[in-house]
Amino acid sequence: MIVVTGATGNVGGNVVRQLLDAGECVRVVTRDPVGARLPDGVEVAGGDLAEPSTLVSAFDGAERMFLFPVPSTAVSVAELAKARGVRRVVVLSSSAVVNQADNPISDMHRTVERALEKSGLDWTFVRPGGFATNTLSWAASVRAEGVVRAPYPDASVNLIHEADIAAVATTALLEDGHVGASYELTGPASMTQAEQVRAIGVAIDREVRFEEQSPEQARASMLESLPAPIVDILLGYWASMVGTRAPVLPTVEQVTGRPARSYAQWAADHAEDFGAAS
Ligand SMILES: NC(=O)c1ccc[n+]([C@@H]2O[C@H](COP(=O)([O-])OP(=O)(O)OC[C@H]3O[C@@H](n4cnc5c(N)ncnc54)[C@H](OP(=O)(O)O)[C@@H]3O)[C@@H](O)[C@H]2O)c1
Repeated sequence: MIVVTGATGNVGGNVVRQLLDAGECVRVVTRDPVGARLPDGVEVAGGDLAEPSTLVSAFDGAERMFLFPVPSTAVSVAELAKARGVRRVVVLSSSAVVNQADNPISDMHRTVERALEKSGLDWTFVRPGGFATNTLSWAASVRAEGVVRAPYPDASVNLIHEADIAAVATTALLEDGHVGASYELTGPASMTQAEQVRAIGVAIDREVRFEEQSPEQARASMLESLPAPIVDILLGYWASMVGTRAPVLPTVEQVTGRPARSYAQWAADHAEDFGAAS
């Protein structure tokens, strides 16, 4: 039995599907076991990673776990998992751990990684860079007006498909040889944000315009949905990526044996989110 936390999310949802495709028995943990939309064939356990006492039955009888990062309780969750019989944990972490000085993102992921390092469990850290799903924040204006409003059209990025993050995690859950490994992940190619917007247009067969915002305009609109420290990290990152190329790492292919999916593929997979007819 493999327990998947974060199972209703972008990455965890793909971990669940890939484990089912591999014929594994999967138990998902969610705070909303009644309302959660989950695939057939999974066991569902209610539980909250922020309240470890709610996770006892979710962990019972499981040997492996995909762990969504919740720093405040990571030590207790790891202790409980070990006490209930879990042996191997694959952790959703972030490349911020290696690429960013102390900030709220790198700090939270380092906290979770340290908890696992000290736990006595077998761990693997999956450290993706920016998710392609971050650009779903453009979906509403693309659907309504065919427009993306964002700063820094010339900033280079190399966003990763959630299915590739999940594929690395699933491989580490199912195969031997990944215990103690930390896998930093990127997508397969550097591209600018303007090129991403063009890729969305191709995926939905509609012209999509990039309307450049000033950093100040972007900051004001991003603050509606994100905390200020995260907004400032993102704006600083994009500013630093103008006139340079984003790193391209071979890790997805090295671990899974298949190349990382392109942003164009991601946009095609999410065409309905951007308004394409189903
Ligand atoms: N976005 C990026 O560019 C990026 C880059 C690197 C790393 N990351 C990291 O990736 C993570 C986000 O992954 P994602 O996009 O797959 O997540 P997501 O789609 O936002 O989904 C969040 C998932 O976590 C579960 N969850 C949250 N709090 C929980 C709790 N207290 N107890 C149990 N489950 C809880 C939710 O489950 P229920 O609601 O069903 O309980 C849901 O399945 C973040 O930690 C982020 O720091 C993101």
